[in-house]
Amino acid sequence: MVTKQKPSPLSLNHVVLFAGDLREQQTFYEKVIGMRVTDTVPNFMTFLRCNPNHHSCGFIALPGRGLQHAAFDLAGRVELSEAIFHLGDGGFRRVDGPGRHGPGNILFTYFEDPEKKNLLELCTEIQQIDETSHQPRAWDAKGALNLWNSFERMGPPERISMAPAFARDDLEVVEICFSIGEAVARRGSGNRPQWN
Ligand SMILES: [Fe+2]
Repeated sequence: MVTKQKPSPLSLNHVVLFAGDLREQQTFYEKVIGMRVTDTVPNFMTFLRCNPNHHSCGFIALPGRGLQHAAFDLAGRVELSEAIFHLGDGGFRRVDGPGRHGPGNILFTYFEDPEKKNLLELCTEIQQIDETSHQPRAWDAKGALNLWNSFERMGPPERISMAPAFARDDLEVVEICFSIGEAVARRGSGNRPQWN
């Protein structure tokens, strides 16, 4: 059974800020502030770290100023699944996910908060970086930010909960969906889970 327990974030995992000039922002945070570039999506995103976390800060080349989203850690995929139901049942608008980001290998979901201007990410399983062996990777923008392409599969965000075919009181189904999504993404067969 899905519990009605509210999410219990463990920490602030990362923030992503809008960048008018991605290169300038990256150079400043790398050369002046002393962060390290973990991965990039060329001409779209840069991910920087200051500890083993894949990124504590990211920049996205979209119109806007300040915060694009803040991401909070949950303990695991069960907690992430519960959070999706909890927020959906609360009437909050799901913007994307659940899915898995390529950069950082993060299981994620995005929701609007009550002011609808703030984008909230809940996440788990973020990649931990080995400083001695890590080589920054330039990700292809197409599909990299949602390896499962699960957003399209689950319908528009106005459908605030998971797909109707899912048994809403059966957490096992959600867990199976995570597994299928990962298996399909690994095979690279269209990056599209077949959940029916
Ligand atoms: Fe994020």
